[in-house]
Amino acid sequence: MNSNNRRDFLKTAALGVPSLLSFTSTAFASNGSTQSKTDGSASRVLGSGKQALKVSSLGLGCMGMSYHRSFVPDRGAMISLLRKAKDMGVTLFDTAEAYGPIINEQLVGEALAPFRKEIIIATKFGFKNGIPSEGLDSRPERIRQVVENSLKHLRTDYIDLLYQHRVDPQVPLEEVAGTVSDLIKEGKVKHFGMSEASAAQVRKAHAIQPLTALQSEYSLMTRSPEQHVLNTCEELGIGFVPYSPLSRGMLSGYLHERTKYNAANDNRPSLPRYQKEAVIANWPLIEILKDFGDQRGLTAAQVALAWLLAKKTFIVPIPGTTKAAHLHENLAAADYSFDPSELEQLTAALSAIKIVGDRYTGISATQTGQ
Ligand SMILES: NC(=O)c1ccc[n+]([C@@H]2O[C@H](COP(=O)([O-])OP(=O)(O)OC[C@H]3O[C@@H](n4cnc5c(N)ncnc54)[C@H](OP(=O)(O)O)[C@@H]3O)[C@@H](O)[C@H]2O)c1
Repeated sequence: MNSNNRRDFLKTAALGVPSLLSFTSTAFASNGSTQSKTDGSASRVLGSGKQALKVSSLGLGCMGMSYHRSFVPDRGAMISLLRKAKDMGVTLFDTAEAYGPIINEQLVGEALAPFRKEIIIATKFGFKNGIPSEGLDSRPERIRQVVENSLKHLRTDYIDLLYQHRVDPQVPLEEVAGTVSDLIKEGKVKHFGMSEASAAQVRKAHAIQPLTALQSEYSLMTRSPEQHVLNTCEELGIGFVPYSPLSRGMLSGYLHERTKYNAANDNRPSLPRYQKEAVIANWPLIEILKDFGDQRGLTAAQVALAWLLAKKTFIVPIPGTTKAAHLHENLAAADYSFDPSELEQLTAALSAIKIVGDRYTGISATQTGQ
């Protein structure tokens, strides 16, 4: 990129209105490389030492197959999709008691039972009766009860990675981590994780039972983990699993201000970031991803996922999908390696966009650490 083009590009990006012209191949040289792998079989390691867990570079978020993403596809089709993901090299499958509740664990359990030893199942405890709107419940007896239920629903005798879904202020973290530690000694659980815990909460729990992974929302629209928890994970040797890595579909460019949601089975209609005004205000971000991808044969979703993978080697995003085409697309994001200078320019352009609309509101917002 010559200095005039660079100045033009940065100026336009700083204004938050990237133009198509600023992303021509001269303005944004295509220096990135693709590796030969075109499936999901490249691997990464979450956690360290005895807590290390080798997984595919991208996992599969299974929630939307049953819960919170408007439609619920045919169950048989989702079983086929889960098996296809396994065939394509995905080894990390993410579910939770709360997804449904229960039906998502049952789906994952049925689909993956024939390959149990070849894959990693992550599930979560932490809500009263498994229903987020009823509040938090991480009492030791409840954790044990959820684990027994999850083992049945998942058709297995061990859970590879057990997360606390949200920190419960009523139950000391020492008790939570201690209970999971006991479950690990009993062989029912292999590894411990937390979700949306703050850096201080991660440290406290890690001192009792070392964590393998922290799972929190992280994407180009939610950069808060960069403030503290990513550094804490790096320091302590804990893996980081970004959930909603496509910002619930937004970063693919597939959603727009006229998208209709089924509010009975979707949290997006209640979240500020998915309201019409916010979608329009945030659209320049999608345009940057699209323009960058257009020069390189990538989709906006692939650029968003490749960007996360490029951040740290201990990051393993778990995009959710109900479509084989999107699964192929998302896994292929792992094939793209950014040239350092193009990554720097892309990040600068994206960072110049001020994101409009919070990711959560109300009680959900208060349950997240940073
Ligand atoms: N720990 C937590 O508190 C927490 C919270 C939320 C989610 N999660 C986990 O994270 C996983 C993913 O999160 P998420 O579903 O909220 O968000 P996401 O992965 O950012 O986005 C999923 C949405 O994007 C669409 N999509 C995926 N790939 C696409 C592509 N290539 N092109 C166009 N659209 C695409 C999907 O629709 P299609 O089905 O049409 O592809 C779906 O509606 C969940 O399944 C769950 O396991 C954890």
